[in-house]
Amino acid sequence: LFAWFRSMLDTQPVYRDPEKGWQVFGYSDISRILADTTTFSSDTARAFNPPQPDLDFFDMGNLVTTDPPRHRQLRSVISSVFTARAVTGLTPRIEKITNALLDGVEGADRFDLIDSLAYALPINVILELLGLPVEDEPLFRVWGEALGTVDAATVPPEQLENEVAPAVREMNAYLLEHVRRLRKNPTDDVLSRLAGAKVDGTYLDDGEIVGVTGLTMFAGHATTMALIGNAVLLFDRHPEVAGAVRADRSLLPGALEEVLRLRPPFPRLARITTADTELGGHTIPAGSLVTPWIGAANRDGSRFPDPDRFDIHRTTSHLVFGQGIHFCLGAPLARLEAKIALNILMDRYRDIAVDETGSLEFENPRQLISPTRLPVRVS
Ligand code: HEM
Repeated sequence: LFAWFRSMLDTQPVYRDPEKGWQVFGYSDISRILADTTTFSSDTARAFNPPQPDLDFFDMGNLVTTDPPRHRQLRSVISSVFTARAVTGLTPRIEKITNALLDGVEGADRFDLIDSLAYALPINVILELLGLPVEDEPLFRVWGEALGTVDAATVPPEQLENEVAPAVREMNAYLLEHVRRLRKNPTDDVLSRLAGAKVDGTYLDDGEIVGVTGLTMFAGHATTMALIGNAVLLFDRHPEVAGAVRADRSLLPGALEEVLRLRPPFPRLARITTADTELGGHTIPAGSLVTPWIGAANRDGSRFPDPDRFDIHRTTSHLVFGQGIHFCLGAPLARLEAKIALNILMDRYRDIAVDETGSLEFENPRQLISPTRLPVRVS
């Protein structure tokens, strides 16, 4: 994938794939797409003919695929409850969950880092943040796996209907039950506050709350797992970086930004044009699917000198969390979880080495850049 990014950046930074539509690779073109939400709509469902299956509430509260003005209204409510304070307040809980998960492999000198830590930590944290019962984690594993197969730009409607829609509907029904419970007996969690929040004097619809909650589970789980797994992987491949970070933990946040830039969990976004437009010398007609490859933009040499180098002192902002009105609401949480997880791993183990002879496996990198099995040897 990275070799393809390099060759497209060098030869065809805007390219029309006959089946998958317009593919865009350069930093400044992608920045322009993300800034111009009128021409480049996020409501990609309108590209499908026949339409995609109705995923009930998931579509209603799905900020990522909602355009202004409703996006602005929904986002202001959600960011008002999803505050920096709510996130930093989770620090002791994130530490506790991380330690409990690593206690599970105490004494072992080899384990799968994804299975033992990176997969479970973000689910548990999101359940905690939302105020949902932590013992329901196994349900979210099943739903998360079904949702993980969604590739809005290419998945045929039948596959969505047969494989994804049943899981989404089941999750919606579960969340609706909790939203109704919390409306009656609110507590101090994000879900209760969403249930009590108003837009222009009107409460959010139950369906919108369910949709936002489902999105949070979906957007916040696999991505954070990927960040933690990618960090352990890249630290192993760059021992000089790992050594420097071990010696001076204040370097960890900068190193994690480089992990994100070099191995962005979501390598691409999706948009659809609402009018004919010019990009990189091409005319893109109205109604075209556009794929901004943020994974490529983050290696664009015109923005990042020596782009493939792991340089923890870079200050240039990357596009890993998007840009503009849809900028990731969970970025502070993902960064906090990864920082805590890596710090605790380094406190517990003098050495963490990826066992290349073990069953190292990866997700399809066009959808999620992440190991799905990461065997490590620890001492
Ligand atoms: C939006 C990436 C973690 C919740 C986005 C977008 C990206 C992204 C690229 C923009 C999508 C677009 O413009 O089409 C990531 C990455 C993460 C991460 C790489 C981890 C490393 C999280 C977490 C949460 C979360 C932990 C919540 C707990 C959201 C939400 C949006 C979003 C609600 C929609 C914002 C909007 O459309 O206004 N994320 N995300 N994300 N993310 Fe994240």
